[in-house]
Amino acid sequence: MSKPSIFVTRRWAAPAEAALSEHFDVTFNEADAPLSKEALIEGFASHDMAAPTVSDRIDADIIAAAAGGKCRLIANYGVGVNHIDLEAAAAHDLRVSNTPGVLTDATADLTLTLMLMLSRRAGEGEREVRAGNWAGWRPTHLVGRSMTGKRLGIIGMGRIGKAVAHRAHFGFGMDILFYNRSTIADGAGVNGRQVDSVAELCANSDYVSLHCAAAPETVNILDAAAIAAMSPDAYVINTARGDVVDEDALAAALTSGAIGGAGLDVYQGEPAINPAILAAPNTVLLPHLGSATAEARVAMGMKVVENACAFAAGNPLIDQVV
Ligand code: DGY
Repeated sequence: MSKPSIFVTRRWAAPAEAALSEHFDVTFNEADAPLSKEALIEGFASHDMAAPTVSDRIDADIIAAAAGGKCRLIANYGVGVNHIDLEAAAAHDLRVSNTPGVLTDATADLTLTLMLMLSRRAGEGEREVRAGNWAGWRPTHLVGRSMTGKRLGIIGMGRIGKAVAHRAHFGFGMDILFYNRSTIADGAGVNGRQVDSVAELCANSDYVSLHCAAAPETVNILDAAAIAAMSPDAYVINTARGDVVDEDALAAALTSGAIGGAGLDVYQGEPAINPAILAAPNTVLLPHLGSATAEARVAMGMKVVENACAFAAGNPLIDQVV
């Protein structure tokens, strides 16, 4: 019997590609370059399933073409699905799955990386050494701040928010505040205090870290008013999605010194970066590395395989989004 076909928009880690190929007739994007809308339409419509990533914009046209062709499942390689028009998928009776859980630790670790890099001015120091400008040790050189005992405010206390809070509280002795739409019991296991608004969180945190999903209700959840509530020493960290921060307001606050700095891994319109963000001082900017560990990237592929296999066998999806 022939295997079901699946269209994969980017190359994966070898073990995950091998596992997928065992069960499916796979078309990989051999060149591993971003695909045009036309190529996505062609690929989706001509396969039983498709496995896009966060860097593919799967809009209503692509969904309609996919549903009008062979495609019945979009098995996203990644947990965030804001790049997929979910309403269109539901309207066309296409199923969508994602890969939750397996990138929690990697993303939490990267959040702490950004917090530490900002606090200890590690980016500035690295640039200074590489430029040959280091004049030697002195008591006043690149003095940063300790994270110990400071307060971390988390927007979105889901899996990743909790993993960040756990590291910050138990690893660095940080006090945890959090904002979350639904109530979370028992201080989220970190003796945390839930607050009623993002502005209250911002006004009372030394670090504000975003971990909510990008959705219509979270677009610019960190807006100009919330940023204005932050103290001049406070830092913004974003490893969630660019859309959840008002980048122009953030850049203005960095430039005027209204806040202390920002560590960003995600951007609106990435890989393009808002020129105001690029020009702003006191930033650490990374290229969407949250899930970029060998372990997480293999596990993400395996999750796609599990979901696609369940679907092919007529079983419920393990990680159904739509
Ligand atoms: C995700 O899974 O949503 C990440 O942002 C991509 O690694």
